[in-house]
Amino acid sequence: NLTTSTNPLRHVESMKHPQSVAGGNISKLNAVTLGEAPASEENALVLPNKEFSSKAHVQSPEQYLEMYKRSIEDPAGFWSDIASEFYWKQKWSDKVCDENFDVRKGRIKIEWFKGGITNICYNCLDRNIEAGLGDKVAILWEGNEPGMDGTLTYNQLLHQVCQVANYLKDIGVKKGDAVIIYLPMLMELPITMLACARIGAVHSVVFAGFSAESLAQRIIDCKPKVVITCNAVKRGPKTINLKDIVDTAIYQSAQNGVSIDVCLTYDNPVAMKREDTKWQEGRDIWWQDVIPRYPTTCPVEWVDAEDPLFLLYTSGSTGKPKGVLHTTGGYMVYTATTFKYAFDYKPSDVYWCTADCGWITGHSYVTYGPMLNGATVLVFEGVPNYPDPGRSWDIVDKYKVTIFYTAPTLVRSLMRDGDENVTRYSRKSLRVLGSVGEPINPSAWRWFFNVVGDSTCPISDTWWQTETGGFMITPLPGAWPQKPGSATLPFFGVQPIIVNEKGVELEGECSGYLCIKKSWPGAFRTLYGDHERYETTYFKPFPGYYFSGDGCRRDKDGYHWLTGRVDDVINVSGHRIGTAEVESALVSHPQCAEAAVVGIEHEVKGQGIYAFVTLVDGVPYSEELRKSLILAVRNQIGAFAAPYKIHWAPGLPKTRSGKIMRRILRKIASRQLDELGDTSTLADPSVVKQLIELADC
Ligand code: WT7
Repeated sequence: NLTTSTNPLRHVESMKHPQSVAGGNISKLNAVTLGEAPASEENALVLPNKEFSSKAHVQSPEQYLEMYKRSIEDPAGFWSDIASEFYWKQKWSDKVCDENFDVRKGRIKIEWFKGGITNICYNCLDRNIEAGLGDKVAILWEGNEPGMDGTLTYNQLLHQVCQVANYLKDIGVKKGDAVIIYLPMLMELPITMLACARIGAVHSVVFAGFSAESLAQRIIDCKPKVVITCNAVKRGPKTINLKDIVDTAIYQSAQNGVSIDVCLTYDNPVAMKREDTKWQEGRDIWWQDVIPRYPTTCPVEWVDAEDPLFLLYTSGSTGKPKGVLHTTGGYMVYTATTFKYAFDYKPSDVYWCTADCGWITGHSYVTYGPMLNGATVLVFEGVPNYPDPGRSWDIVDKYKVTIFYTAPTLVRSLMRDGDENVTRYSRKSLRVLGSVGEPINPSAWRWFFNVVGDSTCPISDTWWQTETGGFMITPLPGAWPQKPGSATLPFFGVQPIIVNEKGVELEGECSGYLCIKKSWPGAFRTLYGDHERYETTYFKPFPGYYFSGDGCRRDKDGYHWLTGRVDDVINVSGHRIGTAEVESALVSHPQCAEAAVVGIEHEVKGQGIYAFVTLVDGVPYSEELRKSLILAVRNQIGAFAAPYKIHWAPGLPKTRSGKIMRRILRKIASRQLDELGDTSTLADPSVVKQLIELADC
């Protein structure tokens, strides 16, 4: 039996009769549907619609609990039943999961389905085609400009994937080799990811908003055989010259001893003419000149479940990005299953996730999760407010999108643009909404629910991370009541726990650090080339558990409320940025002596980057300098990491041992001046007064 601590519904015996959970206060429930904020968010239950529930994969709290219970008590049985729905060239050994999750017992190890031989590309494409989905649309592509679009059926997608796979093999890319992909949201991005997977190559997609320096850093770390890019792209009204960025990155990599022999470049004539593209003969190759010449079939490379599938770099609390490594079998089973249940996926759905494939969301829930389910996936090249703020709903109506998965920052910015931009579109096709990237505040949740979803679509607020591979805490639409702003309850097989600063597991209503007990199939296996950092960052803070880096509150009903990062990571519009990375970019500026960066609340972006900078002796602060400091960050990391405020700091608040007191900086940045706390331990308490005076300088 489930112990009280592993039963996620342990506080909610009355869940059987959801009405009674709300204390019978029906008027409060109606108020939620009408969009008024109730007195307490915790009691604001939004009940599942009966008709929706009756057709859902999971229809009631009891059914969830029964499945959850099995997933915890018999993880091997639970996950191997699901894994058996996929194609395995050879079955895994008897041990479905082999793990050491406790640093005190030795090296951290996570293995799922070890010995099983499979291929995720085969399972996404060939397997679905054999099941009769060959003519089903796999990708609906909508370009930056309205009117530019395209489709690929599963058959056509397979053909294109095979051509790229054959080309990669031909230039010598082998199983285990890294391939860097620096592409915008063209169909060629998921095509290339799948092509790598088909031949056992390890893709590392770098979001095409990262700067040359960031790209070079990643090239130097994983030493790819080839870099795949595109000459330029239009994002909204802007043209971005990607090839120039790649050229600079390849040059910088070469100076650090990593040379790139092949740069495969997709010719994107709507953004740039071929003849205007800078070219290095011998190294640069036009995609369109080679790929179509290759055969449209390509045998798959069968790999072990624990062979690497991809590397994805993400930010941590030091300046160096971490290469999060995911393997094949467990990731496959986990992304497919989470996609199916958290969105209540049905074969007739048209699914749109607004994330870019350069982030984990685009890996697990644009490419792998949906395609493993044979879904029709919309890939959008542009931005949601171009040419106007109604673009998203125009697309929803055009393709009759049924599942729409996006980030709170987009919800808040659309909310600010006014309801009319939404309500002038039908949106009748929508049935499930999703949110990811940061906590969604209850008022944005309600607007999403009431205005976008016409109070009929459940919202899956999915909490997870690059490291977790797939959803960890998420509503299952139709299964249980939702609470605006809460990610609700754990997915199958996931045991979230909340610990205090001593690592003691807290019970009942509590708040603290969010950790996970035991592994799940989609967990990352290591940080590329640095297993020690993997253990130190994630498994040493609270021995025995995986530490997420997030704070969390669990309410009386067992619902989870994520409260944001507790480490030096800032979340800007759902993009994860390390304070140390921004600081190191700022101090690379010749006139900047020291920098301290904090994240503060931002109305639309969730968090904004606020930077305190100390200048080199004798340098005066000026508007010009402010701009060039921001430019330094754009150049070192990317435009999305640009600080929105530079605060000139002739001195920083430090302890006598020289440690910067960020707590004080955060209060100054958010202008909570009456909450500065004790400043007497500072080496020089007068700097605080000085900083306050310079706040609006
Ligand atoms: C961090 C992970 C996972 C895909 C996108 C970001 C925050 C993510 C939620 C959510 C509250 C969330 C956390 C987490 N986060 N989703 N639904 N509610 N917070 O992936 O870049 O690895 O960032 O994003 O702070 O630790 P990532």
